[in-house]
Amino acid sequence: MHTLKLNLKERSYNIVVGSHILAFLGEELAGLQLGKDAYIITNYFIKERYGSTLSDGLKKAGINFKFKTVPDSEKAKDIKIAASLIKDLARFDLRKQPFIIALGGGVVGDLSGFVASIYKRGIPYVQVPTTLLSQVDSSIGGKTAVDLNEGKNLAGAFYQPRLVFSDISLLKTLDKKQVASGMAEVIKYGLIKDRRLFEYLESKHANILKLKQEYLKHIVKSCARIKASVVSHDEREKKGLRTILNFGHTIGHAIEAASRTYTYNHGESIALGMLVALEISLKLDLIQESLLKRAELLISRVGLPVKITKVSTSKILKRHYYDKKFTGNTNKFVLLAGLGKVKIVKNVPLALIHYAIEKRR
Ligand SMILES: NC(=O)c1ccc[n+]([C@@H]2O[C@H](COP(=O)([O-])OP(=O)(O)OC[C@H]3O[C@@H](n4cnc5c(N)ncnc54)[C@H](O)[C@@H]3O)[C@@H](O)[C@H]2O)c1
Repeated sequence: MHTLKLNLKERSYNIVVGSHILAFLGEELAGLQLGKDAYIITNYFIKERYGSTLSDGLKKAGINFKFKTVPDSEKAKDIKIAASLIKDLARFDLRKQPFIIALGGGVVGDLSGFVASIYKRGIPYVQVPTTLLSQVDSSIGGKTAVDLNEGKNLAGAFYQPRLVFSDISLLKTLDKKQVASGMAEVIKYGLIKDRRLFEYLESKHANILKLKQEYLKHIVKSCARIKASVVSHDEREKKGLRTILNFGHTIGHAIEAASRTYTYNHGESIALGMLVALEISLKLDLIQESLLKRAELLISRVGLPVKITKVSTSKILKRHYYDKKFTGNTNKFVLLAGLGKVKIVKNVPLALIHYAIEKRR
């Protein structure tokens, strides 16, 4: 078991990474004294697979619990579902000291954190991420949200968990598409901040895709360390530091939201968004073409798309105005200025964004 600390003064917390550790979550929680009553938000499939391992550990630690399942995938990040969870939580809460456990991927994590942030003006919650994407990214850093019809993550709060508990062995039941989706964020960390991680991915991607535990552990730990460091220096994205994590997300989120049925999942959208951002970087002479080609090769090798085929450019452009980095008519793009180096550029002309999207067709 490996423990990292995310330093945020009195709101600091541990990120625990290990293999076959879910059964020991109860013990870890007992030490944190968050309360005696766990309200576990998850979905049916995850509960079926991992619910009993978690509940056995909680019982041993003397923690009462209730499982609450939500629909699978992005449709659960819905304001109506959040409201129904809050009501259910209020009924559960009679004479109790509840805290929330988010057992699932980024969807369950974002939704649970949002509910925890608003119920009684905030109760403790713990992230138990079960997808690669959530272990390397979404469970860390306290960004919680639900989606609105107008755009993704538009209703949300910064609200830090009290613990992130990543059991690598849970990833063995992920399908290929979900592993690839997580790899988009892993590649992002390499591109924006860690040349060695990027090179590791170039040479070891086959072992990672085979879900070999030691390789997965290396990337989860590396990414968690980067995310924890960035968040601890700029929790609320006020200093321009945390913004770098949005590399690929301006156009990525627009692609994800452009089709209401989420034709491209999160990681696929971010992969395409990163390639668009690289096209813009290249056109602005910030990078050489060889870097774009290396990124494209790695993205395709992990099973992610490199061409935008399922969403029109006009729909993507329409959606990209909802990006939270837009203020008035000013857009803000995270671009690359070399491997492991970012540059934030304001006012990227619409014609250039259009060109970069079209280059990916
Ligand atoms: N808060 C943040 O900082 C942040 C960062 C990145 C992404 N996100 C959000 O994360 C979400 C995407 O997360 P995701 O990719 O984890 O998707 P997800 O939560 O929808 O999970 C993907 C699928 O994998 C299944 N699954 C989960 N764990 C499994 C397991 N161990 N074995 C088998 N199947 C399993 C789920 O049931 C689901 O069908 C998006 O909503 C995105 O906006 C948030």
